[in-house]
Formats: sequence, structure tokens, C-alpha cells
Amino acid sequence: MTSLRVFPADKPLSGRVEIPSDKSISHRALITAALANGPSRLRRFSYGEDNVKTLGVLRALGVQIEDDTQGTIIVEGVGLDGLKEATIDLDCGNSGTTMRLMCGVLSAQPFHSRMIGDISLSARPMKRVAEPLGMRGAFIRGRHHPTKDGDITAPLDVGPLPLGKRLNELEYRLPIASAQVKSALLLSGLFASGPTVLFEPLLSRDHTERMLQAIGVPIHTVGTSVRLDPPASSSALNAFDIELPGDLSAAAFPLVAAALVESSSVTTMHTGTNPSRTGLIDILKSLGAHYVLAPRGSILNEPLGEIMVKQQPLRACLIGGEMATRAIDEIPIVCALAARARGTTEIADVSELRVKESDRLATMASVLREFGVECEERPDGLIIEGRPEGPLKAARVTSHGDHRIAMTAAILGLVADGPTDIDDTECIATSFPGFAATLRTMGARLEEFS
Ligand code: S3P
Repeated sequence: MTSLRVFPADKPLSGRVEIPSDKSISHRALITAALANGPSRLRRFSYGEDNVKTLGVLRALGVQIEDDTQGTIIVEGVGLDGLKEATIDLDCGNSGTTMRLMCGVLSAQPFHSRMIGDISLSARPMKRVAEPLGMRGAFIRGRHHPTKDGDITAPLDVGPLPLGKRLNELEYRLPIASAQVKSALLLSGLFASGPTVLFEPLLSRDHTERMLQAIGVPIHTVGTSVRLDPPASSSALNAFDIELPGDLSAAAFPLVAAALVESSSVTTMHTGTNPSRTGLIDILKSLGAHYVLAPRGSILNEPLGEIMVKQQPLRACLIGGEMATRAIDEIPIVCALAARARGTTEIADVSELRVKESDRLATMASVLREFGVECEERPDGLIIEGRPEGPLKAARVTSHGDHRIAMTAAILGLVADGPTDIDDTECIATSFPGFAATLRTMGARLEEFS
């Protein structure tokens, strides 16, 4: 087990930092490149473990992938009918996105696949994808979920679809906003005999829609609804070249560090600013933080920008509804902002956090308390009493195997009254392999130990 010791910042943090490529976009780029016609090139790929799992799964399905190990990946697309039955179990590691998106692709294949995951992924609910895919004729069987009655979890057995049979058309109303479920259904729709029409209660991240549209798939969105028609032929997806945008969910950590540490100012470069992901920016605004977002064009329908945050006093606010959905993965680090804001911050409408890599409401509540921050846990959120004056209490905490909890604790450690130890920090590599190095370039002091 590796641990991270974070020392309180004794000088302002500063710099222009590179952040890893967007995890969600990278998954989609790999999967759609594999289904496209001919070679696609992905640049600035950042080797977060979740994305590397998707790459491994595609290789196991017979897709040739060249990797120069410096961030350029060439995927030889096999078209919609070119995947081959794997001879091994498909290991999705910690990555819910790999497992759920690949359910959509694999449930349309004439062969059987078995997907497995680590302990955390093997406790995450999978009925949310299996059920609607089943409605269009897919066969997905999982292990009975040990605590959620009626649900299933990994390992998952998917397919085969009888030879010559295709998935049916589907019209489906998602009970919760979920980009993973929506994307699984859209990807399965590429192989179906008729349209896929989906309605979400709130718009979840729309990277799949943007990417499919950019590579020639007939897909249309209106508000929170989307319709995809099956492409005319199995070679209809155009190969592409993409320089992957940086991940706002990773940028959140250096940016929040800058918002908290006295006199700091930090800019993240090449940062994805897709509006379905920018809830954090709205939250910074509501908290009275100083930020500037400078647009820097777009790539394959995905907008980019540079984001600068400067430290200044924060005031508590209310976070919920669509703002929370657009910041769903940033809620742990938003708790760090709330911990230093004047007043009581209420975070609501985020019960989905209970079924992420850890139960993030429970784990964040316990981490905040270790740092001396008062916090009340609600079924769908947290109420946090800000402590803007003086340092927080230095703590020893565990990540609970959750990358975003580990990184949030590290940022809180920068404003504590002594060194903070975070245990079980290998998980940080799932989304931000260079996290400690990036913070060091900004002037922070961190030491890894085991
Ligand atoms: C993701 C969707 C989100 C998010 C996850 C990545 C994706 O989950 O929390 O980290 O890439 O589709 P939902 O499916 O709950 O929206």
C-alpha cells in the first residue's frame, strides 16, 4: 500500500499546468475508433488506468492498437462487424465506464463475453444497463448484488446474440441522468435494426453524442432527448484524429488548491469545457471565487479552454439540481471549497454519489470530520460548516480506494496545521497518474511513502 504525506503550503501555489486527457472522452475515443473504418489517431493520451483498461479490453477483442507510450495511440478500426470473441475474461479494473459502455457494444455481438472488475467495481449496480439493453433483446447476466436487492453486479456475462439476429429498436426514459447508461444504449444502437430514442431527466455528459455526430453517425439531440439511427453500413463510422482535451475533473484539483492556498494563482491548459461538465465553474462563481475561463477553440465538437483560479475569500452557497449533475465527479473536491467557505454550504440531489468508486457521501463526511470540519450527511447530500479562519486540523485518512477522495484529502492537507497522511493512494493513478508531480510544479510539498 502506498501513502502520500502532504505538507501545509508555506508559499502561494502558482503556474500553468498540463492536466491528463479527459477520461470520459478518452474511453469514447478508443471505443468509437475501434468500431470505425480504418486507423484513428489519439494524441495526448494520458495512461490513466481506467482508460488503459478500455484499451486492453479492445485489444482482447481483436483490435490492433499501436501505442508509442508517449501519448500517441493508433487504433486500427475493425468496423461494426469486426470484433472477435476474446479468449480471456475482459478485465475492466476499477472502471465503471469501461464495463457499462462495453455492455452496449458486446450485447450486440454474435459471441459471448465475460467482464470482470476489481472489488469496488464488483459492488457497483449493473441492472441500470442490463435492464434497458434486455428490453432491446440483449442477454446480460450478472452476480446477484450482495446488498442491493434485485440488482446485479460484476462479473457480467454478455451475449451471444443468435447468429443473424440484431438488437431491436428502443425508446427508453432513463430513471436517473446517467451518461454511462445513455452511452451504453447509444453504442448498442449502432448495431440495432431500428432507432434508439432516449429521454433523460437532466442532461448527463454528452461526449458520446458529440463524438458519434463528428464521425458521421445519424444522431440528433433536442434538450435532454436524443435519437440515433443505425448507420447505413458496417463501415459507416469515419476514422478520426483527435488531440484529447484535458480533463476538467482532474483540473479541478489544482484549481481548487489555488482557490484555497493564500495568494495562489494557477492556470490549467487545454482543459475540456463541454457545458455538460462545467458545473464546477458555476459552483466557483456561486462561492465567490475568482476565476477566468478563456476559450481556446474545439476539437471533434468538444470545446477547450484555459482556466485560471486566484485565491480569494469564499462564501457558502447552495448546490443542487442540474448544477450538481454537471459537477457530479467534482463534488468531493467541492467539499474542500465548502470546508473553507464562510457559512453553511448545502449540497443536495447527489444520491448517485453513493454508488461511485466508494460511497462518496459517507467517505467525504468522514474525511471532512478528520480535518475538523463539521458535516451532516443526508441521504442525497451533505451539509458542511465552513472553517475559513485558521488552518484545518492535520489528519491521517484513508482513500477508501477512491481516487477522487484521495486527491481531495491531499488538497485539504495543503491548508492544515501540520503534515497530513493519506493511505491507500495507488488509486490516484486511475485518473491522474501525475497528480503529486503536478502539485509539486505548483510549489506544493508532497512525499510518497509505503
Ligand atoms: C461517466 C459518467 C458519470 C461519471 C463517471 C464517468 C462517463 O457517471 O460519474 O465518472 O464517462 O460516462 P454517470 O453514468 O452516473 O453519469
